[in-house]
Amino acid sequence: MNPKWWKESVVYQIYPISFMDSNGDGIGDLQGIISRLDYLQDLGVDVIWVCPIYKSPNHDNGYDISDYCDIMKEFGTMDDFDHLLREMHARGMKLMMDLVLNHTSHEHPWFVESRSSKDNPKRDYYIWRKGKNGGPPNNWESYFSGSVWELDPRTDEYYLHLYSKYQPDLNWENPVVIDKLHEMVEWWLKKGVDGFRFDAIAHIVKTKGYPDADNPNRTPTVRAYGMFSNLEDVHTLLQNLYDNVLYFYDIMTVGETSGLGPEQALDYVGDGRRELNMTFQFEHMFLDAASPGSGKWDVVPWSLLELKKIMSNWQTVLHDRGWNANYLCNHDQPRSVSRFGNDLFYRIPSAKMLATFIHMLEGTPYIYQGEEIGMTNVCFDSIDEYRDVETLNYYEEKRKNGVPEEQIMSAIHHKSRDNARTPMQWDDGHAGGFTTGTPWIKVNSNHMEINAGNAVKDPDSIYNYYKQLIALRKKYKVIVYGSYELLLAEHTEIYAYTRTLEDQRLLVILNFFDTEPEFEWPAGFDPDQLELLISNYPQSKDHDIRSFKLRPYEARVYLQQRV
Ligand code: NOJ
Repeated sequence: MNPKWWKESVVYQIYPISFMDSNGDGIGDLQGIISRLDYLQDLGVDVIWVCPIYKSPNHDNGYDISDYCDIMKEFGTMDDFDHLLREMHARGMKLMMDLVLNHTSHEHPWFVESRSSKDNPKRDYYIWRKGKNGGPPNNWESYFSGSVWELDPRTDEYYLHLYSKYQPDLNWENPVVIDKLHEMVEWWLKKGVDGFRFDAIAHIVKTKGYPDADNPNRTPTVRAYGMFSNLEDVHTLLQNLYDNVLYFYDIMTVGETSGLGPEQALDYVGDGRRELNMTFQFEHMFLDAASPGSGKWDVVPWSLLELKKIMSNWQTVLHDRGWNANYLCNHDQPRSVSRFGNDLFYRIPSAKMLATFIHMLEGTPYIYQGEEIGMTNVCFDSIDEYRDVETLNYYEEKRKNGVPEEQIMSAIHHKSRDNARTPMQWDDGHAGGFTTGTPWIKVNSNHMEINAGNAVKDPDSIYNYYKQLIALRKKYKVIVYGSYELLLAEHTEIYAYTRTLEDQRLLVILNFFDTEPEFEWPAGFDPDQLELLISNYPQSKDHDIRSFKLRPYEARVYLQQRV
């Protein structure tokens, strides 16, 4: 079972711009985070993943870094950062940085030099190509709409950007770039940070010969990102990073790797690979997309059978060979309770059920800020209320193509990243207690009801349920290390599974819908021998001998001793 602290931990993700503003400018900051550390300590989380806080012109909320060794002025200073790290360590919590190694900001001094002339010594820090037939070098499409190529009139060549044009991709074929990045990673480690989430790491290598390598799979509606995702050389580069830098520190690493299944993930996280501890997989994030290739915006209903298939595959393939990072939400995704639960009629039970699901799987559970109080998607009426570059580009492109406004806005209401980026709802006062000023993006109007102040006080709140889940993880090794087995594979409403470690076994029963399906005790489980560890409904002691009806979104976790 190869015990590790990062397997036993629970991670809480902070999106700093929207977490807590300490100085009234409407933008979250590091002092704001410090002021809320007691809240996080009370929740019981071990690791805090802080999304990028480096100097940045903020075209993509910090994922466009203009100085890796400085702090974004809106967030504070390096002294504030050192203070944050000290305060976290004093509370026994660890800090995981979010590091963007695939690209920088167009304002990074490297890029400013690189674009200045074809013979600048830093020209080759980025990826420059000549155009073809009066257009870009190839047909690759960016994650944020349009071509990945931007023509720079100064030298009449195109530079590559997989994301926005303000995020030029670094050239990992240049050994000088690699050395500089290694040096910088080490600089943060020497400061005492406890880990990294490596942004977009699957994309640091692009298909060779790509000026002429058109993407063969592309159709007008299907984008395929295979030309620059998870290519073999990524592993060589990660192993170099590990051997030269990461190996010397007791840290935790997680890579953002879209576009792979568990077998391929083992190349990153397999024991003995010397690369990463875990990766974020995206298969379940595409369950409600018309097809994985069509991008995320064409929304279709998701199916529980598909969810079971995907998650079970990750659970079983990685068991004893690698490690999972389990999540339902982050700063790029809709709110989990709005997407997989029921934020209209069963917000509280469904949020608790989803939390039970993630925390009872094998792998490290991730909580995204506000998820622990059941924050929901927003539904702004006008595009003017949205701030996210991906959303704004999508809107513009669709309008240009004549798609009706209502259709675009409906996709945005379901899928915009701003759903998860509205300010954290601390209380029912001005701006949800996030700022004394005007927030950079509107607060969800439901903060009067949904807020941390209410949640902390209410023993039946989602927050206090998370607290219990986290406490259980600390108590029972079977929750961390037990092997997973799916029950009722074909059931369309109930997701049930067991986790087994030595002589202990968990039985996890989850109703994913607002229906009341009948659950039959599986063979080998004697209800009288089971201890109920947690449930989102009150449970009586008398079990029905053979079966019982689950209530809407009901979750139960039982422990059987001496299997
Ligand atoms: C993935 C990050 O999670 C997302 O927020 C960002 O826009 C892109 N990578 C580009 O850095």
